[in-house]
Amino acid sequence: MNDDADTATRGVGVVVVAAGSGSRLGATAPKAFVPLAGRPILGHALDTVVRLPGLRSLVVVVPAELADGEASEWEGIGLPDDARVVTGGPERAESVAAGLAHVDEECDVVLVHDAARCLTPLAVFERVVEAVRAGTAGAAGAVPGMPVVDTVKTVDAQGVITGTPERAALRAVQTPQGFRRDVLVEAYRSGQVATDDAALVERMGHKVLVVEGDQLAFKVTLPADLDHAERLLATAGGRS
Ligand code: CTP
Ligand code: MG
Repeated sequence: MNDDADTATRGVGVVVVAAGSGSRLGATAPKAFVPLAGRPILGHALDTVVRLPGLRSLVVVVPAELADGEASEWEGIGLPDDARVVTGGPERAESVAAGLAHVDEECDVVLVHDAARCLTPLAVFERVVEAVRAGTAGAAGAVPGMPVVDTVKTVDAQGVITGTPERAALRAVQTPQGFRRDVLVEAYRSGQVATDDAALVERMGHKVLVVEGDQLAFKVTLPADLDHAERLLATAGGRS
């Protein structure tokens, strides 16, 4: 891993969750192993993660059938020798918990990143780490977020609008989501389920800060997203 962590108790652990099936993408392989510009999606994600200053521990969470790290599906991924590969669970939260259990204990900060957000620029990772380390605004975690362009409504079970949150106060959040390691471990110990990692930490009463996200941190979810990623990679300067 990268050797610029300044003391034995300061290092960044990254859990890359790649154990989903990708049902909405509808490919034959699990989503993270679907080719994008000739290499699996996961390979593109890891290209950026391995450049993160202070990276001490990298855990990649994959479907059980790929957890030996040696199947032909791993070709072109460029898995670092010191990365750990672990089996995920049926829900994302279970995959995160499985990965978190294998992060080296000397890491003070842990980031959780969706392999499917494979073009997320390094600068986003760095902003998240910096904010967690600084404890900006008293936060124990930081997540990248983007302003919301549509007006968002809350609705009841019948679809009747119950409210219109003020758009200026809304953010669409992305990954990597970063936290103090002790806080994230405790959040996952609670066994609760949420659609993102920050929600668990928020529920414990900790502050989580939103830092500036990036359009390139979009999640490959549907076939059109894969086409979009292909086009970006075909364009010089599509990544940073
Ligand atoms: N993920 C995971 N384990 C799961 C479910 C999701 O590790 N049980 C990971 C995915 O691999 C992905 C990220 O969490 O990198 C975000 O999930 P999502 O985009 O929903 O991926 P899938 O669950 O694979 O896709 P779908 O919901 O369309 O089946
Ligand atoms: Mg999913």
